Amino acid sequence: MCGIIGVLAKDRPAAPLLMDGLRRLEYRGYDSAGVATVSAGFLDRRRAAGKLAALADVLGTAPLPGTSGIGHTRWATHGCPTEANAHPHRAGSVCVVHNGIIENYRTLREELTSRGAHFESDTDTEVIAILCADMLRRGLCEEDAAAGTIARLEGTYALCFLFETAPDLLICARRGSPLVIGLGDGETFVGSDAIALAPLTNRICYLEEGDWAVVSRTDMRVHDSHGNPVTRRVQVIALDHLIADKGQHRHFMAKEIHEQPTVLARALGAWTSSDRNRITSDAEHIDWSAVSRLSIVACGTAYLAGHVAKIWLEQIARLPVELEIASEFRYREPPLPRDGVTMVISQSGETADTLAALRYAKAQGQQTLGLVNVTTSTIAREADVVLPIHAGPEIGVASTKAFTAQLMCIALLAFMIARKRGVIGPDAETTAIDVLSTIPRILSEVLAQENDFAALAAQISDATSVLFLGRGMMYPLALEGALKLKEITYIHAEGYAAGEIKHGPIALVDEHTPIIALAPSGPLLEKSLSNLREVIARNGRVAIIGDAAACQVFGNEAWHCLAIPHVDPLVAPFAYAVAIQFLAYHTALCRGTDVDQPRNLAKSVTVE
Ligand code: F6R
Repeated sequence: MCGIIGVLAKDRPAAPLLMDGLRRLEYRGYDSAGVATVSAGFLDRRRAAGKLAALADVLGTAPLPGTSGIGHTRWATHGCPTEANAHPHRAGSVCVVHNGIIENYRTLREELTSRGAHFESDTDTEVIAILCADMLRRGLCEEDAAAGTIARLEGTYALCFLFETAPDLLICARRGSPLVIGLGDGETFVGSDAIALAPLTNRICYLEEGDWAVVSRTDMRVHDSHGNPVTRRVQVIALDHLIADKGQHRHFMAKEIHEQPTVLARALGAWTSSDRNRITSDAEHIDWSAVSRLSIVACGTAYLAGHVAKIWLEQIARLPVELEIASEFRYREPPLPRDGVTMVISQSGETADTLAALRYAKAQGQQTLGLVNVTTSTIAREADVVLPIHAGPEIGVASTKAFTAQLMCIALLAFMIARKRGVIGPDAETTAIDVLSTIPRILSEVLAQENDFAALAAQISDATSVLFLGRGMMYPLALEGALKLKEITYIHAEGYAAGEIKHGPIALVDEHTPIIALAPSGPLLEKSLSNLREVIARNGRVAIIGDAAACQVFGNEAWHCLAIPHVDPLVAPFAYAVAIQFLAYHTALCRGTDVDQPRNLAKSVTVE
């Protein structure tokens, strides 16, 4: 969701550092932005609706001096993305930036209004600034006013205060949204994640849930949720992994698509023994033969990786799996078996609904697994067993390499569990590793076909609606294809199980609606082909993405055939994932949409 940065710099202006940090955080939200600094006892701010470039323009004409400041990039929750609603919010001598949702903001707003406060925005955040200013007016010092304000807040927040009267001070707090403090040489920094601080310092302290901290240029004092002073570990973080740039690519999404062979080779290496004979994972310590059911919970693309996981774990390990969207699971409050395990899947490790689902499962006495990319995330800290996917920072809002890295780890997990349940022997495990080892090479071959996907994309880019069809393992891939397309091109798209279309969706078929059929050859191909013939008979424009054999069968009947390499069924989801990613990416290029920062979305969804 929103991104936060705070800077107490030594002998250098804060505003450029804030802007640089916001650029790194822009993936978290990008509908408006702002910065505030203190200089010579004077607190001032600049804000702008729209992307960060708009704020840079404002600062170009009206720069902000000062070595202390805070900044924010917003994903709107309360109130439209206007300048008035952009952070920092100011009241009197205090400014605040906030990520999260203040649930009791109406009560606080009414209370403050009845005492004569005047609100300028529609946001929940402004109550924080006004409440703090109110406490300062009543004679509390900055620290007590901030602590008193934080104590009144219900809901989720990562926030940072800046005071006109205390230019060497930042006060920050977290509950439900991540926040880090970075320690430099005579300088300190606050950020929503370590990526924001990567060029500034590699000494990072992750605040724990409920913590609040008083930060000066040389020091930090952290308090837990009860106000008790606590010591939090300062870790030295490897910066190379955090500094994200596009390399020679036009977009982060393109870079991340092309990184997949390397990412998947890395994930495979991390999950296997050095002789590549055995799958090694912390999940091995669970007695899988005694587990009656695995519940998988996630959102969005991670949920679709869970869909693939259900198929693999049931087929390969014969383990019954329940799969559910986190926002439904957490409120449905399902009964969970005592001998069950719950696995949450999350790239960011911060998705609010997924985190709530994890907490629910823990409270029900489940053993919990967190399959995450960000290993310093809240989900990684709270899950009993952390399963890292090793994808590296994913900046493009549309998930690509994290999806396939999740699939790689899930495939390995399935074979490891199968071995532990006595379903397969060691030879089958080694064979599976050998098959999975071919994925980086095969993906390189699919990546080399980028122009073929660009050509198909050009043909669908003027469509108003696109259907994706697939059977078996290609069904979740069809859902993911539709999600990717709508996310970055704004074309309406739906994914269906190919066998299901005659039960309703076939009514949508006409000569204007491209139908993308994911049809690798295999036992289900004939079935898929019959479904596609039903569509073609109704003037449907069917584009087949399949292997040469599948394309040959369909040759003259389909509107378009795009052949990718013939692959083992275990490898197919990876190869077809690249296919649908390219299709969405190139369609977005044709339509000129913002690939890395599509409208209305944010990378890390830390609100419910
Ligand atoms: C789609 C996408 C989202 C995320 C979802 C969950 O391309 O990226 O659907 O998959 O918001 O996010 P994480 O995995 O961070 O929990």
